[in-house]
Amino acid sequence: MTKIRAKISGVNGWVPNYVLTNKELETIVDTTDEWITSRTGIKERRILKGEGQGTSVLGIEAVKGLLKKTNTDPSEIDLLICATTTPDMMFPATANIIADAIGAKNAFSYDLQAACSGFIYAVTTGSQFIETGKYKKVVVVGADKMSSIIDYSERTTCIIFGDGGGAVLLEPTEENVGIMDSILRSDGSGAQHLHMKAGGSRKPASHETVDNREHYVYQEGSAVFKFAVTNMADVSAEIMAKNNLQGEDVTWLVPHQANKRIIDATARRMEIGEEKVMLNIHKYGNTTSGTIPLCLWDYESQLKKGDNLILAAFGGGFTWGAIYLKWAYDPS
Ligand SMILES: CC(C)(COP(=O)(O)OP(=O)(O)OC[C@H]1O[C@@H](n2cnc3c(N)ncnc32)[C@H](O)[C@@H]1OP(=O)(O)O)[C@@H](O)C(=O)NCCC(=O)NCCS
Repeated sequence: MTKIRAKISGVNGWVPNYVLTNKELETIVDTTDEWITSRTGIKERRILKGEGQGTSVLGIEAVKGLLKKTNTDPSEIDLLICATTTPDMMFPATANIIADAIGAKNAFSYDLQAACSGFIYAVTTGSQFIETGKYKKVVVVGADKMSSIIDYSERTTCIIFGDGGGAVLLEPTEENVGIMDSILRSDGSGAQHLHMKAGGSRKPASHETVDNREHYVYQEGSAVFKFAVTNMADVSAEIMAKNNLQGEDVTWLVPHQANKRIIDATARRMEIGEEKVMLNIHKYGNTTSGTIPLCLWDYESQLKKGDNLILAAFGGGFTWGAIYLKWAYDPS
């Protein structure tokens, strides 16, 4: 019997209009454009402004465009997974809100939380539903409104993050394209270095938690940096070795966009040149679950059927992982 694989048959991204530049950040915290650019590679990021605007807005816009591009009727969607760390609410799932807004009446939908590795986790999970043969159209969204949990008085963390999201459509194929392999990892002992102190069941919101600024990202930047460099490079090298791929066989590295220095270290380890690395950190910063689909969207016109892509991410949890996929279509 021929193996059914999941292929990405379309991608779309969406970012809000408001551009928060390094120059503007210089007026908010004690920093400089030069420091941010040289330490992270980020020049600007997008911010979702407006009352009542949550992560679902990013997802809804990304999915609407995806359905249009791929000529998909919302009623055909079987499953919608939203990878996010900044859900609209603690419950219901942001995926439920997105599915309702786009009219995916026949879909079941759920959120997946794996911080910056969320999209890789969700594509791997979504592809398994396709591989069983039971589901035909799975939408995977990666979106985060990071500005909702960032302390704009804390200069080491606030310069990194931005808002944005993207979505892909997964469909079955019997051709030699699609999701070929994935490696997913987690290590909960890393929680101490990157977490949000309050607002969960362990420490519900109170006047005191708000006064103590405990509803924002707590990040020990240099500790996270060391784990990210090692693990993102290791898992990328591991998935290449597992699939007998050399640097020259890889058409594109699609890395999570957290810090240009982490991305460079991963590319060096994979022995691939910078011309093969998708990069948009300079314009969007770290959009957490949004970075990888936003990269695929930005570079879609350069992708050809059969291209070998390695998607790699590292994030809070700690979580990390890599996907090896063969791109399934030529540019239109
Ligand atoms: C956050 C990060 C950019 C900080 O860069 P860094 O090189 O590690 O910087 P450090 O925290 O060691 O700080 C170095 C110095 O710069 C200063 N500094 C920190 N932020 C600054 C800013 N925005 N502007 C100017 N100076 C800054 C520090 O105070 C420190 O000064 P000191 O040497 O006088 O004490 C980097 O650690 C990082 O990218 N970490 C990984 C983040 C990540 O991937 N997170 C998401 C998980 S996916």
